[in-house]
Amino acid sequence: MSSEKAKFGTKMGLIAATVGSAVGLGNVWRFPAVAQQNGGAAFLLIYIGCVFLLGIPVMMSEFAIGRGGHSNAIGSFRKLAPGSLWWVTGLLGILASYLILSYYMVVSGWTMEYFVHSVTGFLYDGHTPAGDNAVYVDKMNTLIRGDVQPVVWTFIMLILNLVILLKGVNKGIERMSNILMPVLFVLLLAFCIFALHMPKAADGLEFFLKPDFSKVTGSTFIAALGQAFYSLSLGMGILLTFAAYYPQDTKLTRTATTVASLDFLVAFLMGIIIFPAVKSFGLDADPEALQGTTLVFVTLPEVFNQMPLPHLWSALFFLLLGIAALTSTISLAEVSISLVQDRLKLTRLKSVLVVVLPLFVLSSINSLSLGRWSDITIFGKTIFDALDYVTSNVMLPLCALFACLFVGWRMKGDFLRRQMTNYDSMTSPMYPVIRATIRYVAPVLILTIMLSSLLK
Ligand code: PFF
Repeated sequence: MSSEKAKFGTKMGLIAATVGSAVGLGNVWRFPAVAQQNGGAAFLLIYIGCVFLLGIPVMMSEFAIGRGGHSNAIGSFRKLAPGSLWWVTGLLGILASYLILSYYMVVSGWTMEYFVHSVTGFLYDGHTPAGDNAVYVDKMNTLIRGDVQPVVWTFIMLILNLVILLKGVNKGIERMSNILMPVLFVLLLAFCIFALHMPKAADGLEFFLKPDFSKVTGSTFIAALGQAFYSLSLGMGILLTFAAYYPQDTKLTRTATTVASLDFLVAFLMGIIIFPAVKSFGLDADPEALQGTTLVFVTLPEVFNQMPLPHLWSALFFLLLGIAALTSTISLAEVSISLVQDRLKLTRLKSVLVVVLPLFVLSSINSLSLGRWSDITIFGKTIFDALDYVTSNVMLPLCALFACLFVGWRMKGDFLRRQMTNYDSMTSPMYPVIRATIRYVAPVLILTIMLSSLLK
């Protein structure tokens, strides 16, 4: 089957699809919240280090496994190390991506819901006085904690995913990414220009760009590393699955650097948007206002409400967030679809249905776990939060760790070199650095974040 595997048609398409996977809720809402909690500019510098020094090498090891094995997340390990148990790493990545998808889809549904309610006027009915965030907390409780509305919007998002995934790798994923990623960047730039004209933009920029190292602690490094992994979609088989669709002449180092840089750029531009807004509207006094869900679904609507044309800005923002989420959910789903298609030898149609249909049930459970079923808890967390915790803090780093050990230690020395030089057809000056990072630096650092976040 693997010889019939789909291929991305163009360089632009494969970059757009991989960037589309990386750029998601992690950049738009998680990054500003984590940066705020960890002191702003000092965090930003450490984050840059984590993305470029660690993120790129780990990304390279996933690319190498996927393109070298030329199969799904399990099949690639099996092909490269037959008869061993390394394929369990791929299984772990597939499980992680599927579980993440079951709650990520719910949040994606909220973005569509907020987009529509920005347009219809439910969010901005003109009766909300400035500075009254209770109204927005109430609206959020209806829109994301209710029994019906959030579930219906999750279903709508699932159907949108189904339609794109059914069209396949080229006509679905690649074409969608080619259209939506440029739209996302244009929207981001429009917001940046707008934010830089806000009354206290300079104060916001100072917080984001002028480092205060007295605020840096060990946990700042852990937060930066965790955020870099989440944002770059590392450790869940996504990059590995996509790399199996890369042609043999794709330059892996250049692709990894481009993807990491664009992913970083989106997070950076979000900082340029959020911090001026937060300072200008005096919202930094309340740390709660900047936590992930509250930041996006309470604080930002409050900001939009105090601007001219709130409907327009709010609709554009939730459209941007929706695009970021959609291109990521598609890539999370493709990990399992690729497996089902290869292993069960099913048609694309059947494979997509086998993967997506159960999500109607799993996502509904996740959605209800925030409202009606919030008293069902696992180790004191709702089902939604427990899944987020286990996948981000345990499964994702474990899978990334094993991917590095596999490429750095299990595979023969020339495996990575051959992938980085496109089977010895070009030179790769970065090879020794990347190899050393994959062998020594990355495993030690990943183990450190894992242990410290588990022992917290
Ligand atoms: N990288 C994407 C994001 O930042 O939202 C998609 C994603 C990757 C989501 C990893 C969740 C995750 F754990």
